[in-house]
Amino acid sequence: MKRKNGIILVIILLLAVTVCATLLVLLRVDTAKEYRIEASADVMVKDLVLDPHMNEVVNASQYIDTSTVGEHTAGAILKWLFIERIVDIPYTVIDTTAPEMASKTGFYLMCGQDIKTIENELEIADNSKTPVEITYSGEYDTDTPGAYDIKVAAKDESGNTSEKVYRLIVKVPGSGEVSYFETSKGFLGYTKDGMTYIDGLLIVNKTYGIKADAVADLTDEFKAAYNEMLEAIKADGMYLSIESGHRLHRFQVYLYNNSVNKYGKAVADTKTARPGNSEHEGGVAADFNWVSQQFRNSKEYKWLQENCYKYGFILRYPEGKYEETGYEYEPWHYRYVGKELAEILYNGGDWITLESYFGITSEYKD
Ligand code: DAL
Ligand code: ZN
Repeated sequence: MKRKNGIILVIILLLAVTVCATLLVLLRVDTAKEYRIEASADVMVKDLVLDPHMNEVVNASQYIDTSTVGEHTAGAILKWLFIERIVDIPYTVIDTTAPEMASKTGFYLMCGQDIKTIENELEIADNSKTPVEITYSGEYDTDTPGAYDIKVAAKDESGNTSEKVYRLIVKVPGSGEVSYFETSKGFLGYTKDGMTYIDGLLIVNKTYGIKADAVADLTDEFKAAYNEMLEAIKADGMYLSIESGHRLHRFQVYLYNNSVNKYGKAVADTKTARPGNSEHEGGVAADFNWVSQQFRNSKEYKWLQENCYKYGFILRYPEGKYEETGYEYEPWHYRYVGKELAEILYNGGDWITLESYFGITSEYKD
C-alpha cells in the first residue's frame, strides 16, 4: 500500500513539474536585451515586448518616458486568465539629435544690451529635456552700433551641437528717430539721419534716398580701396582715374536737369539719379576713366571686370539688370561694398545686383 502511495505521489509531482514548466514556457515574455531609444521618441510598452506569448499586455498602449537620457525600466503589466503581474523591461534613452535653431537670418540688439538678450529669439528646440548650452563667438561689439556676424553654437548635454552664423544689428541708441525694417530676403535695415543701411551697408537707389550733403567726400574706405586697386592696375600697365567721385547735392541737381533737358524725364530716370538718390552723394561710388558706353571695349574695363571685386568694388549697374537697379548699363560706375560682399556679388563674373541680393526695390514713388 505504501509503495502504491509513493508511486501516486511521484506521478503527482511529475505532473505538477510538467504543468509548471509548461506554464513557464507559455507565459514567458520575450523582450530584446537592449533597447536604445532616441530622446523624445514616441514609444509604447508594446514596442518593448518582442513576443508576449500567452499573455495579454494590459498597458500595451501606454507611452514610456523618453524625455531624459539614461537607463530606465518600463513596467509591462501582463495578464493571463485572472493573474496579473508586472515585468520590468530595461531601456536606454540616447540623444544623437542636435538642437534646432531659428531659421531667420539675423537679430537686432539695442546698443549696450547683453548678447544673451537674443536667446529667446534663437528659438532653440531640442529633443532632450536637459539644458542646452549656448555660446556666442565672432567679432562683434554690442557697445558699438553696426552689423556683425555672430556664430551661435547650441550644445545639448549629449554633446550634439548645432552652429549657425547670424547677422547681428546693434541698434543706434535713441531709436526714436531710427526706423528699422526687414527686406524680402530677411536682411535687416535701418534709416537714420536720412541715410538707409541694410546689413550695415549704406544703400542709395531710387527707393532709398539720401539727405542733401549728408556725406562730404568719398569715404575713407573707398579711397583706401581705390588706391590699392590703382597700384594693382598700374602694375599691370594700365591706369585708372576718377572721372566723377563724390557729388554735392547741387551738382546732382545740375546733372539731373541736364539729363532731363537732353532725354526727357522718363529716359533721364534710366540714366541719371534724381538729386537725393545718387550713390555719388553718399561718397561710396565713382565713375572711372570714361563715362561712355565705349568704355566697355577698353582693356581697363576688362581688367576691372576681372579684378575690381578683389578690392571691394562692384559694377553697380550691370547690363540687362534695369528691372532690378532701375538704371541702364553703366560700365564706368563702381560702388565700394567691401571685399567680402563684392566677391559674392561678382559671382564668377555674372554680377548679382545689390537689389537682388538684399531683396529690395529701386523705384521712385512717383
Ligand atoms: N548715373 C547714376 C545712376 C547716378 O546718377 O548716380
Ligand atoms: Zn556714376
